[in-house]
Amino acid sequence: MGKLKIGILISGGGSNMLAIVKACQAPDFPVEVAVVISNRPDAKGVDIAKTHGINTIIVDHKLFTDRPTFEAVLNQELQNHQVELVCNAGFMRILTEDFVNQWLGKQINIHPALLPAYKGLHCHERALADGVKITGCTVHYVCLEVDAGAIIAQAAVPVLHADNAASLAARVLKAEHKLYPHALRMVADGRAVEANNIVRVKTNVHAADNLYVPKI
Ligand code: GAR
Repeated sequence: MGKLKIGILISGGGSNMLAIVKACQAPDFPVEVAVVISNRPDAKGVDIAKTHGINTIIVDHKLFTDRPTFEAVLNQELQNHQVELVCNAGFMRILTEDFVNQWLGKQINIHPALLPAYKGLHCHERALADGVKITGCTVHYVCLEVDAGAIIAQAAVPVLHADNAASLAARVLKAEHKLYPHALRMVADGRAVEANNIVRVKTNVHAADNLYVPKI
């Protein structure tokens, strides 16, 4: 069977994109990166993707008068590259209902918190303000409500007493780099199918090495 063709949407550093690109270099990984698309011309991830020989396209949202025309071009580029699954990796644009519906069940996202906690922005600041001891990251299907789609995989990350938002974000980001390829493999293998906004995955959390807790 052929590999699942993905398009990765980025807006910034591109470190999750790079983790996926590296995972795809393994011959047995069931995914190939057809295209990386950035909505920001100056995103660091653009250079990283090009350095790795990936088709890289910029669709600058600032050049469009409204979201639908921006998304029409985005969609056209995804179609041109025969993308079967869209992977949002630090893509910081809100998508319209039409775009979300076009890719329903075929678009996933990574969020730097243990959803449904801390949807939206500034997750780490809010986690620190609440004094939580565990946070983490989530890969989920994209649905109409932001950060509310069916959860595919999560990794837990400890919050340490000396943390600030930057140190916590860095620890969570490391976990993201393991979690995203893990979740992507499950989607590509057909193990992470959504039904009624729930993904029931037949897998062993410990064998998957995707749960991190402090040693007590
Ligand atoms: C990651 O932490 C990702 O989870 C987050 O942006 C960062 C992108 O880093 N995404 C969101 O907050 C989406 N709401 P990267 O560009 O280095 O992958």
